[in-house]
Amino acid sequence: MMAENENNGKTAFYPLNPERMMADLKALSLFNSTPGEGVTRLPFTKEAREACEYLKKRFSDAGLLVHEDAMGNIIGVLPGLDRSLPAIAMGSHYDTVYNGGMFDGQAGIVSALEIVRCLREQGISLRRDLIIIAFNDEEGVRFHRSYLGSYGILGRDQSKAILEYKDRDGISIREAMENWGMDSERIGEAAWDFDSIRSFIELHIEQGPVLDKEDIDVGIVHSVVGFRRYMVTVKGREDHSGTTPMDLRSDAVDTAARVICWMTDFARMRNDGTVATAGYLKVRPSVENIVPGLCEFSAEVRSQDMESLDLFTKGLRESLDKAAALCGTEYEIIEKMDIPPVKLSDRICGMLRQSCEERGLSYKLMPSGAGHDAQEIAAVCETVMIFCKSRDGRSHCREEWTDPGDIAKAAAAAYDLVMKLSDQE
Ligand code: GLV
Ligand code: MN
Ligand code: MN
Repeated sequence: MMAENENNGKTAFYPLNPERMMADLKALSLFNSTPGEGVTRLPFTKEAREACEYLKKRFSDAGLLVHEDAMGNIIGVLPGLDRSLPAIAMGSHYDTVYNGGMFDGQAGIVSALEIVRCLREQGISLRRDLIIIAFNDEEGVRFHRSYLGSYGILGRDQSKAILEYKDRDGISIREAMENWGMDSERIGEAAWDFDSIRSFIELHIEQGPVLDKEDIDVGIVHSVVGFRRYMVTVKGREDHSGTTPMDLRSDAVDTAARVICWMTDFARMRNDGTVATAGYLKVRPSVENIVPGLCEFSAEVRSQDMESLDLFTKGLRESLDKAAALCGTEYEIIEKMDIPPVKLSDRICGMLRQSCEERGLSYKLMPSGAGHDAQEIAAVCETVMIFCKSRDGRSHCREEWTDPGDIAKAAAAAYDLVMKLSDQE
């Protein structure tokens, strides 16, 4: 395969091998509970176990020292010449959403692995350790709470309340971990000492249309939006839909619908890039001729602007109060996530620009509207993200696609960056 832009007779992604990366992505995509309907690989499932075993084998074949940590993250270490120096870490996640694609998260893992393989093939020894990590449960779609793997390496196990979060079938994280053969009491052992990590890099597909539309090779991500996620349970009363007058019924869906419209109207009216979504909805009993007695829904807002996040939180409660009073219902709201917008490292963004220029890759500085583990890690460590194109901007759906050469171009910029970072004092 040839890249369009050649550099001294070498492809723009030299020495990375896009076909080898694609073979890994295809192999991973087979660990899937919904074949033919996108990729579904939820945390602590049979498919997740298969993906972990595959990654361990590939990491080990690449010459890495491999282990699975107490949070189900797969970690491989390429020892550097001076192991006392703070390491470079790079990775992304191996879980997927329901019926998602084969690139979200996985492109970042496979890129890190390919970088290791190329370093070894080129006979290059890094000064520092390079740690590659495949995170568990970044998406948070099973337990409604994202970033479990990075929560583990960040050592955020103080209360362990998170372990009681439940999935759609009422199985808690604690139970799911134990069914997977893990000891949930030991998640504290996954924590990293961030004094021994110099920089963190996450390569990811853009999941939006900008790079594809503008035909740009590499997105250099300078910031990631903040987000808040709530789970709302509205309780009404089941009654006959034909005989119960409007002023005598307690309709949980009527309440939820009013609040959801408020959420999306709020985001539209802010007109500052704020987005609001009620992506999860459960209705009981969900029968045509019964007034709905229960409606559970997720209320998520994302924005680069703290004020928009704060106004959403306040307005959501006011909207719930108003709708519940009108509909004669009660509600409960639980905060699942609250992550502020983060700025990534200017210093590494500058180094990446230089790498792109040296390789003749086109690039664009841009924010990320999607959430990523890197966003949490940025709070404790110099962090950057690198995006590659997503065809038509599609992601979190079965149509998600990125050409292997496009992943390889972004990975090549990361390859150069790893060497530069490793060489620096
Ligand atoms: C993950 O992809 C997220 O942005 O929720
Ligand atoms: Mn992702
Ligand atoms: Mn995702």
